[in-house]
Order: sequence, then structure tokens, then C-alpha cells
Amino acid sequence: MTMARRHPIFSAIYDLFNAPAEYFGMREARAKIVSGLHGRILEVGVGTGLNLQHYSAGATVIAFEPDLTMLRRAVPKLDGARANVVLVAADAQMLPFKSGSFDAVVATLVFCTIPDADAALAELRRVLKSSGAMHFMEHVRAPGQFGASIQDALDPLWSRVFAGCHPNRDTAEAFRRAGFRIEHFEHRQRGIVISGTAVPAS
Ligand SMILES: C[S@@+](CC[C@H](N)C(=O)[O-])C[C@H]1O[C@@H](n2cnc3c(N)ncnc32)[C@H](O)[C@@H]1O
Repeated sequence: MTMARRHPIFSAIYDLFNAPAEYFGMREARAKIVSGLHGRILEVGVGTGLNLQHYSAGATVIAFEPDLTMLRRAVPKLDGARANVVLVAADAQMLPFKSGSFDAVVATLVFCTIPDADAALAELRRVLKSSGAMHFMEHVRAPGQFGASIQDALDPLWSRVFAGCHPNRDTAEAFRRAGFRIEHFEHRQRGIVISGTAVPAS
């Protein structure tokens, strides 16, 4: 198992680099994913905390992240949060939480980067209640052969520049392998951005 490396430069430019995308729709997409959630929520790879302002008052959010250079940039976002948010240093591949202890899992733009996404999904499946759901938004492998082959060609350079992000992962398939059933699904940008809800299959 590989612990996440620290990426101080990526962390420092992350919010600025994402600002145009946030302005042109990502902010609303984040709000749509998390604002209706209640109970005890686990956010995976919280990064610089761009989702935190969107959770509702009354929710309890345990938001974790293994890269401390990212996590420290999430700390100022706590001031704008209405929910009760706790930031934790942890790795999705080996979670320090009891089985069945969360009502919901939130994952945005993380399964592209987690070194062993299958191990992480097995852990998330374990800590999620059987009545719970995982709410996701991910960029994934292009549905067509042409787009996917471009992603495959870009992957070695892309992953170096973007802190271990792999543009060519079939994340929906990884959800199914881990025992999740995709209940609600939307895609945009020619199928390379997917969002929706996945629930324990049994
Ligand atoms: C592209 S950033 C997304 C950050 C945030 N979720 C967002 O929506 O802006 C990917 C994040 O995944 C985190 N990550 C990498 N490996 C991880 C792991 N093993 N467990 C949890 N998070 C991880 C990275 O440190 C980084 O913060």
C-alpha cells in the first residue's frame, strides 16, 4: 500500500487552477451533491475543502485527506461551513473507522488519484451503513476507444503533472467490482465526468 506523497506546489495552486471550472458549474455541482445529506458523512480525500461550505447545518462531516499540504489548506474553509466538520489525516486504503459507521460517503475527483482505488472502495464499502449511499463526481475513462487511447497516451505525463491523477480509470466499473450498485447516474463532457449515487449491492 502506497501512502499519498505530499504535493506542496499542487496544493498551493489547486484553488486558483480550479477557479474557472468552479465558476462555470463545478461549484453548483458540488452543492447539488452534498447539500441534501444528513447524519454522519465521510468525505474522501477532501483536498483543499472545496465541498465544505455546501453541507447543510446539522450534518456531521468527517473529512479526511492523506496529503497534509492539501489538508492544511482546508482548515480556513471550516469558517465558512454550516455543518459540524472534522478534518482528519487518513488514507482511504486503510480507514481508521468502525464498520457501518457512516450514513453517507462523499467522493469528488478522488478515485483518479488514490493509488489503489479497489482497496479504497473496499474500505468505503466497509464503513458505510448498509442503508447508506456513496455520492460521487469523478472524471473517468472516455467511453469511446479514440478518447480513451488519448487518455492512455497522456497518462504518464498527466499523472506527474497532476499529483498522481490518472485520467483513464474506469471508475464506474471499480464501483461495481467493490460491491456497489450505481443507483443514479449522470454524465457530461462527452462522458468523461460522471456523477451520481452508488449503494451497497447487497
Ligand atoms: C484532485 S484532488 C480532489 C480534492 C477534492 N476532493 C476536490 O473535490 O476538490 C485528489 C485528492 O485525492 C487525495 N488522495 C490521494 N490519495 C488518497 C488516498 N489514498 N486516500 C484519500 N485521498 C487521497 C489527494 O491527496 C487529493 O487531495
